[in-house]
Amino acid sequence: MKRVRKAVFPVAGLGTRFLPATKAMPKEMLTVVDRPLIQYAVEEALEAGIEQMIFVTGRNKTALEDHFDVAYELEATMRGRGKSLAVLESTRLPAGSIASVRQQEPLGLGHAVWCARELVGDEPFAVLLPDDLMVGTPGCLAQMVAAYEQVGGNIVCTEEVPHERTASYGIVTPGVRDGRLTEVRGLVEKPKPEEAPSNLGIVGRYILQPEVMGILDAKEKGAGGEIQLTDAMAKLIGDQPFHGLTVDAERHDCGDKVGFVKANLALALKRDDVAPAIRAFLQDIA
Ligand code: G1P
Repeated sequence: MKRVRKAVFPVAGLGTRFLPATKAMPKEMLTVVDRPLIQYAVEEALEAGIEQMIFVTGRNKTALEDHFDVAYELEATMRGRGKSLAVLESTRLPAGSIASVRQQEPLGLGHAVWCARELVGDEPFAVLLPDDLMVGTPGCLAQMVAAYEQVGGNIVCTEEVPHERTASYGIVTPGVRDGRLTEVRGLVEKPKPEEAPSNLGIVGRYILQPEVMGILDAKEKGAGGEIQLTDAMAKLIGDQPFHGLTVDAERHDCGDKVGFVKANLALALKRDDVAPAIRAFLQDIA
């Protein structure tokens, strides 16, 4: 079985739900406490043993690449002032470990992943959607890689979602359950509650076999007129093992304003440096 060495980060989205914050700044640079969303996703990938990060970007997204580059002037100034550079740890990746490719038009998540096909090549790969901020020990993707080493094939991260919210998620038709793993018998993108095969939703973490790229070549449109990753994955079922993994992690939906503010509070409350002040403030305003 080939190891999962590469991860695709679809980061071309316009972030219209966060305007005006995202007018001149990528939404993946929105900060939770003191680091941008993209950094949480990249750190999670590094922890899972990923060596090659592939950003699928768009226009106005150069801040994402700069964030992981050497900031010569900043670092020289900090050194000159005797300041520690530890705070920049994990924003400086080994040379060559980030590559980027552009998605020229917003044609859907499936299309974004397909844009990375040449960089992915003929090996299994992970997909991480930075909007879903996952907090777990070990991290979400590391838990998925451990499961992958047992069952191989394709694995999506799953979570029970409220019945009335199925139209916001890819939804699984579940088969046999074995602990945290559920056999995937079918997948449908954003079904209405009355049409949903279950409440088991896909969270933005995937381990996929390269054959999905061949299916995406057809550029078939699905829900919302977009080329959907869920539809392409559904076509792998039967040919390759396919599982959902319910991880032991907290999920924060940072694609949504309420979820984003909650994420800031939840993560701040886990941080020794700021938790006491934030807790006192919350008690004050309660
Ligand atoms: C995407 C996927 C969907 C998945 C979701 C997880 O939707 O298409 O299947 O459940 O991410 O966050 P989006 O949230 O981009 O509309």
